[in-house]
Amino acid sequence: MSRKNTKRILVTGSTGQIGSELTLELRKRYGGDNVIAAGHKRQPSETLLTSGPFEYVDLSNEESIEKAIRKYDVDTIYHLAAVLSATGEENPQAAWAINMGSLYNILEVARKLKLAQIFWPSSIAAFGPSAPRTNTPQETILIPKTMYGVSKVAGELLCNYYFIRFGLDVRGIRYPGIISSEVLPGGGTTDYAVAIFYDAIRSKRYTCFVREDTVLPMMYMPDCIKATIDLMEVDPSKVKRHDSYNVAGMSFSAGELAAEIRKYVPDFRCDYKPDFRQKIADSWPMSIDDSVARNEWGWKPKYDLAAMTKDMIERLSKRFNEGKL
Ligand code: SER
Repeated sequence: MSRKNTKRILVTGSTGQIGSELTLELRKRYGGDNVIAAGHKRQPSETLLTSGPFEYVDLSNEESIEKAIRKYDVDTIYHLAAVLSATGEENPQAAWAINMGSLYNILEVARKLKLAQIFWPSSIAAFGPSAPRTNTPQETILIPKTMYGVSKVAGELLCNYYFIRFGLDVRGIRYPGIISSEVLPGGGTTDYAVAIFYDAIRSKRYTCFVREDTVLPMMYMPDCIKATIDLMEVDPSKVKRHDSYNVAGMSFSAGELAAEIRKYVPDFRCDYKPDFRQKIADSWPMSIDDSVARNEWGWKPKYDLAAMTKDMIERLSKRFNEGKL
């Protein structure tokens, strides 16, 4: 493919839970050399290093971002690097500085260099307890109680501003908790929904840091990647919002997840010892109304709790049996 006919993409946070899988999918679609994985701290996997370029980029420094954009002739950025909700409550100052600082720098570089498209994820954390907790609508009160959520609401507004004021094509999704089998999430409140699988396979025991009846919106990685790329690929005329779209996958309680896992690991035991993350979970929606995304750009998830659990168990069991888990 000639460079002129395809997107040239930079993915920040490419070593993270979502970035590691999204980068590989983008490379499949657009060619390895056209998707530059950007990282900072976490060591990139062998697959990430061998399937296309990898670049250390300091997102707190506009020049570092600009240098990478020019070096690789990038026109599209997926900006995934962020401090998540639980880590954000341990160090709110750093969460604000990193989340807002990096987004502002990305948007500024994109404006100056007239980039074609930016993807930036918001989160269910943008909502707070004053929003309806079931079927939380696209448009509702956004008063989050975490610094992570504050950075998401501010980020949504900033993205929308860059679209209105500078015509920058920024698109975003409010991700639910993302469940995946390749790279563990770090520092989020929904991390238990991933860790429970690893521990069920490894030791048949898990101590969950939220109560058994805690219900949160979740999504399996293949749906997360599909939603992200679908939104970025859809014709601009269909994208009516440039803050962020609600998308839903599934909703279940921690207890329901444990029960589903027990269908494959009958003697699996889950204990519940809620910690400070319970309060965060209690301030978030339990289910999401994503009808706007469905109507405007055709969003539709594929995985429910049963299909996701089956696939997770199969993948992790295989790795465990090969001595790789
Ligand atoms: N998974 C994220 C978190 O728990 C929510 O966006 O922080």
